[in-house]
Amino acid sequence: MKAIVLKEIGSPENLILAEVPLPKIKDNEVLVQVKAIAINPVDAFVRRNQAALEMIYALKGDEENIILGWDVAGIVTEVGSAVTKFKTGDEVFGNFNFIGQANAYAEFVAAPEEELVIKPANVSFEAAAGATMAALTAWASLVKFAKVKKEDKIIIYGASGGVGHYAVQIAKHFGAYVIGVASGDNKDFVLGLGADEFFDYKTQKVEDFVNDADIVHDAVWVEADVNSTEDTHLARSLKTIKNGGILSSIVVYPDQQFIDKAKAEKNITVQRVNVTPNDTYLKDIETISQLLSEGIIKTHISHLFPLADMAKAHEIIQTKNAVGKIILVP
Ligand SMILES: NC(=O)c1ccc[n+]([C@@H]2O[C@H](COP(=O)([O-])OP(=O)(O)OC[C@H]3O[C@@H](n4cnc5c(N)ncnc54)[C@H](OP(=O)(O)O)[C@@H]3O)[C@@H](O)[C@H]2O)c1
Repeated sequence: MKAIVLKEIGSPENLILAEVPLPKIKDNEVLVQVKAIAINPVDAFVRRNQAALEMIYALKGDEENIILGWDVAGIVTEVGSAVTKFKTGDEVFGNFNFIGQANAYAEFVAAPEEELVIKPANVSFEAAAGATMAALTAWASLVKFAKVKKEDKIIIYGASGGVGHYAVQIAKHFGAYVIGVASGDNKDFVLGLGADEFFDYKTQKVEDFVNDADIVHDAVWVEADVNSTEDTHLARSLKTIKNGGILSSIVVYPDQQFIDKAKAEKNITVQRVNVTPNDTYLKDIETISQLLSEGIIKTHISHLFPLADMAKAHEIIQTKNAVGKIILVP
C-alpha cells in the first residue's frame, strides 16, 4: 500500500510517498481502508523535533519509515478475532493511539476497535476525519473543563482554526455569547460560524474592550521573549475574565505561580486542557459524531489534497494560520 513516510526529522519535503507493507491487525484491531485523513499543528511539530517525535509517538528510536498521523475516517476491511463492535464494510472514524503511533498517513491502518466509532451515513468521510483531534480538544476545553452554559460570555482565540472553528459552533450550541478572535481576513468566516462578536488580534487587544468574560479558550502560542516587559498572552487573557471565571489554555502550560495568583486575585480557575483523555474518549467522540450527524457542528474544509501532497499540507498547517481543517485523501 501507499503511505507517507518520514525519512528523517526536518522540513515538509521529508514526507515522502512510499510503498510499504499492509499493516497486520491484532486481535482487538480492525483494518481500515482510509478514505480521509486530517492533520493538526502537532503533526508538523513532531515532524521537525526529534524529542517531541519520540515522546508523542512513544518511539524507541529504532524505527525506519515512520508514518505520522492519528485522525482518519474509512471503511473496515478486516476484523481481528476479538473484535465485537464492527464488521467488514462498516464506515468508521476516530483519533486513535494518541499519544502513541497510529500510522494514519496511509491507504490502510490497523486501529483498535475501542477507539473508533461508526461514521454517520449523512456525514462525509472528509468531514468526519476533520472532527477528531480538533473537535475533541474544543469539547474538552469548553464542555468538560469550562462547563459552558447558556448565556456565558466566552472568548475563543484562534476561532478560525481547526480547534477554534469547532469551539465556536459548540459554544453556540450551548447557548453562549461568543467572541471570536482571529485575523481580520477571517472575520466573515468566524461570524458565519455563529460568533456574536469578532476581534482582529492584529489590530485590537481584546482586553481593551472586554473585562467580564465567563470563559476564555486560549489557543495562542507566542514565542517567549525574555527581554519583553509585555504581559504573556495568558496574562492578557486573565484581564478579560470576570471574578470567578475560567481560563482554559490548550497551548501554553501555565506555571503554578500564575495559577495561584489568578485564584487569589480574581478567583479564576486556570488549567491546561488536552485533547480528551482516554477515560472519556469514546463517549466524547460518540457525542461529536451525533453533533455532526444532526448538523449542529460542521467541518469547514479549507484544503483537500491527495495523500501524495502531504508536504504541501504540512507547509500550510505549520504557518499556524490554517482555516478550518486540511484534509487528505488517499
Ligand atoms: N491541548 C491539546 O490537546 C491540543 C490539541 C489540538 C491542538 N492544540 C494546539 O492548539 C493550537 C490551535 O490548534 P489548531 O488546530 O486550531 O491550529 P490552526 O488550525 O493552525 O489554527 C490556528 C488559529 O490561531 C489563530 N491565531 C494565530 N495567531 C494568533 C494570535 N496571535 N492571536 C489569536 N489567534 C491567533 C489563527 O488565526 P488567523 O489564521 O486568522 O491568524 C487560527 O485561527 C495549536 O497550537 C495546536 O498545537 C492543542
